Amino acid sequence: MRFKDRVALVTGGAGGIGGCTCRLLAAEGARIAIADLFADDGEALAQEIRDSDGDAIFISLDVTDEHAWESAMETVRSRFGRLDILVNNAGISGAVPDKMDLEYFDKLWAINGRGTFLGMRAARKDLATSGGGVIVNMSSVAGIVAHEVTHMGYNAAKAGVRLMTKSAAIQFAHDGTRVNSVHPGWMTPMRTSVVSSDTRQRDRLLEVVPMRRGGTAEEAAKAIVFLASDDAAYITGSELVVDGGMSAL
Ligand SMILES: NC(=O)c1ccc[n+]([C@@H]2O[C@H](COP(=O)([O-])OP(=O)(O)OC[C@H]3O[C@@H](n4cnc5c(N)ncnc54)[C@H](O)[C@@H]3O)[C@@H](O)[C@H]2O)c1
Repeated sequence: MRFKDRVALVTGGAGGIGGCTCRLLAAEGARIAIADLFADDGEALAQEIRDSDGDAIFISLDVTDEHAWESAMETVRSRFGRLDILVNNAGISGAVPDKMDLEYFDKLWAINGRGTFLGMRAARKDLATSGGGVIVNMSSVAGIVAHEVTHMGYNAAKAGVRLMTKSAAIQFAHDGTRVNSVHPGWMTPMRTSVVSSDTRQRDRLLEVVPMRRGGTAEEAAKAIVFLASDDAAYITGSELVVDGGMSAL
């Protein structure tokens, strides 16, 4: 039970990777705040965790809204009394047909980039108070290397998350808070993926992955859980790639 008595807030917790992360953390004793826009899926997951003798609540949160972050943190404080782990995982995909859509560029930054900053800003003091706080930010291999099929706004936002993570790691180290990023490759497609969920396109994308397959949401979630655990006690400011070797090419 690596997370006994710890409290975790997972944004995008009603989605693929976020949902797996909530289940894995709860299975090891964490109490979970599942934060997302999708109330039906989030409430259902919270109920599933409670039915398995865990403790979880759903919080409706738009990560781009700074006031909504304050109210989400108020809910965490009043329900759980503390926060130990923040997983900034909410995001939208870069695998969209119009790679020059300006409105979508702004949306990519608002959710994937600014949303991550707002999360760190809202949770910093609570994590410091708990002592030994942890932040895991969800980047992507697209924050390290470019792809033909990806909107460059996604690269910009995920590269921003990668470097904000390193800034936070050095700025929050004296609070006792560790901050790391996770960089998945082609995993189970996102709700918002268009290009990478088309079967023919996906086969072509996977041909260049050294391991010759896509990853699962659970494989990404396991990397998050490792970084959130005391097994990673001396790891901060680092980036963990989970991509079947794609970015090593
Ligand atoms: N699936 C992949 O192949 C892959 C690869 C690299 C990185 N990632 C990253 O992993 C993270 C999770 O992706 P996933 O595969 O689970 O996708 P997903 O679409 O299943 O989940 C994303 C979740 O984020 C939520 N979300 C979106 N906008 C939000 C907002 N404004 N406020 C709150 N919640 C919001 C969605 O409702 C959804 O539940 C994302 O940041 C994504 O960019 C995914």
